Amino acid sequence: MVVNSPAEVESATSSEHNYDRITELKAFDETKAGVKGLVDAGITKVPRMFYSFPDKSVKESDNREVETSIPVVALDDIDGDPIRRKKVVEIVREASEKWGFFQVVNHSIPVEVLDEMLDGVRKFYDQHAEVKKQWYTRDGSETVVYNSNFDLFSAPSANWRDTTYVNMAPRPPNADELPEACRDILIKYSEYIKKLGGCLFELLSEALGLDPNHLNDIGCSEGLAVLYHCYPACPEPELTLGATKHADYDFMTVLLQDHIGGLQILYDDQWIDVPPVPGALVVNVGDLLQLISNDKFKSSQHKVLANHAGPRVSVACFFTTGLAPSSKIYGPIKELLSEDNPPKYRETTVRDYSLHYNAKGLGTTPALLDFRL
Ligand code: OGA
Ligand code: NI
Repeated sequence: MVVNSPAEVESATSSEHNYDRITELKAFDETKAGVKGLVDAGITKVPRMFYSFPDKSVKESDNREVETSIPVVALDDIDGDPIRRKKVVEIVREASEKWGFFQVVNHSIPVEVLDEMLDGVRKFYDQHAEVKKQWYTRDGSETVVYNSNFDLFSAPSANWRDTTYVNMAPRPPNADELPEACRDILIKYSEYIKKLGGCLFELLSEALGLDPNHLNDIGCSEGLAVLYHCYPACPEPELTLGATKHADYDFMTVLLQDHIGGLQILYDDQWIDVPPVPGALVVNVGDLLQLISNDKFKSSQHKVLANHAGPRVSVACFFTTGLAPSSKIYGPIKELLSEDNPPKYRETTVRDYSLHYNAKGLGTTPALLDFRL
């Protein structure tokens, strides 16, 4: 059967019960070569396991004119100039309430470091499949976790993407445990991101009307997981996605994307591009920050389109301790609550939230909803 549009794909999937998805998934996983392996082998059709389905919750036909761009904010002078800082805090507040996303420039990470980081990612994925295989695993307790689709066996459709995951804080790995292709820059970049993260959490604290140190003090910047992604060139990009619609499960994400583009956020039922801006980093509010801010800040749904161009690479720095044992309890911040603003979420640990999110996988209902009171 020849399948063309996502609508036809959907009807085909529900009618053809003999399609052996699990065998296709296992065979793909056993190559340990990811989507890049398929593309390097010269594949010209997207295999069925990657087909994505129309998203009925989004009214794509609705062509209203919306203000279509998330703000780009310059972070220079915010320590020396209180008036400038106040302005920046105001932009950060508005953006975090409205979009859950903004971009930052003049963030004090040199552009050479950004370029070197993206080059390191390309170098890692460009290695021969036989070399990369040593890192391919689904065991989250490994230091370096490289695979394709963390939720491969549970998600309704697989993404056109490979990912490598490394926890860089609070307990950084030994350098010799990291892949040589990007080892040095991964360590250097993480140091810069930790510093920038601390500064962003100060701005976010102030934007919530709290003491500047509040979010850092309660541990929001304690953990850092670096996820570096590869979105290979796709022969039929209309049939699949680079990343399914999702919100991030952390406090905050700082994303470095290359020049290709494809990241979109869902705002008011419409998909809005997050265009690549040279030298900029994309900052977004994660589920845990939405939870502790009691919905003041939004953890927006976003997705990544597949593209004929590629590979696109990106580096997502997740501020979270993830699955590490954690006893700290997080709930809506007391200082933000009042009679008119009672807590909307139950308390949780970072580990319990992450476990719940991982078990759900992408392509289902938002995990955060399950913590609403
Ligand atoms: C993520 C993510 C976007 C991108 O890692 O959660 O949304 O552009 N990444 O890679
Ligand atoms: Ni994301």
